[in-house]
Amino acid sequence: MTGNAGKVAEMRSLAEPMGYAVVQDKRGYPELQAASLAEVCAAGADHLLASGLRPPFLLEDSGLFVAALKGFPGVYSRHALETIGCGGVLGLMRDVEEELRSAAFRTYLLYVDAGGKRHAFEGTCKGRIAARRAGSTGFGFDPIFIPDAPGAGGRTFAEMDLAEKTRLSHRGKAVRAFLAHLAKSASPPS
Ligand code: IMP
Repeated sequence: MTGNAGKVAEMRSLAEPMGYAVVQDKRGYPELQAASLAEVCAAGADHLLASGLRPPFLLEDSGLFVAALKGFPGVYSRHALETIGCGGVLGLMRDVEEELRSAAFRTYLLYVDAGGKRHAFEGTCKGRIAARRAGSTGFGFDPIFIPDAPGAGGRTFAEMDLAEKTRLSHRGKAVRAFLAHLAKSASPPS
C-alpha cells in the first residue's frame, strides 16, 4: 500500500525470490501529521479498513531523521522532499561539520493479516548526510545519504545498485523481518 515505485521495486527484489508476489495498491490514505511513523501507519490502517479494504495488506512509512536538525524531516519527509528537496536539506546542513552530520533512515511496516491482526516490523539504517549530492540510482533522499556500513566506502545510497542498498537499508531490514514472519506463520506461497 504505497504510491512510491522505488519502494515497491525494493520490496519486490526481496519478496519475489521467496515466492511472494507484491501487489501494489495505490489507493491513498491521509498521512496524519503524527509524531511517529507508527502512528501514521496505524491511522492509515484504520482509514483503509473503515473504507472497506479487506486485509491482508501492508502499509509502509519511512523517514529520514537528521540529528543536527532535531530529527527533521522525520515524519514530514515526504513533504520536505516535495518542497525543499535534497538541495534544501543540504542547505540546512551547510555549516554542519562532518562529525555532526549523523542521520538515520527508518522504516515502519504495518501488516494487517487476513484475520485483521496487526503486526509491526521496523528497520533502521544509520549514516550521515553527504556534503553534496552523489549518484543517480534509487529515489528520494538517496543521493544525500551515506550509510554507515563496512563496504559502503562513503558512497551514498544513490551510488549503489538495488541489491546493495536493500542489503544495508532500513527498508531491507524491515522487509526481511516481515518475510521471516510470513515464512513461519502463513501458509507457504503457492
Ligand atoms: P513516505 O514513507 O512515503 O512518507 O516517505 C517519506 C519520504 O522519504 C518520501 O519522500 C520518500 O521519497 C523518502 N524516502 C523514503 N524511503 C526512502 C529511501 O529508502 N531512500 C530515499 N528516500 C526515501
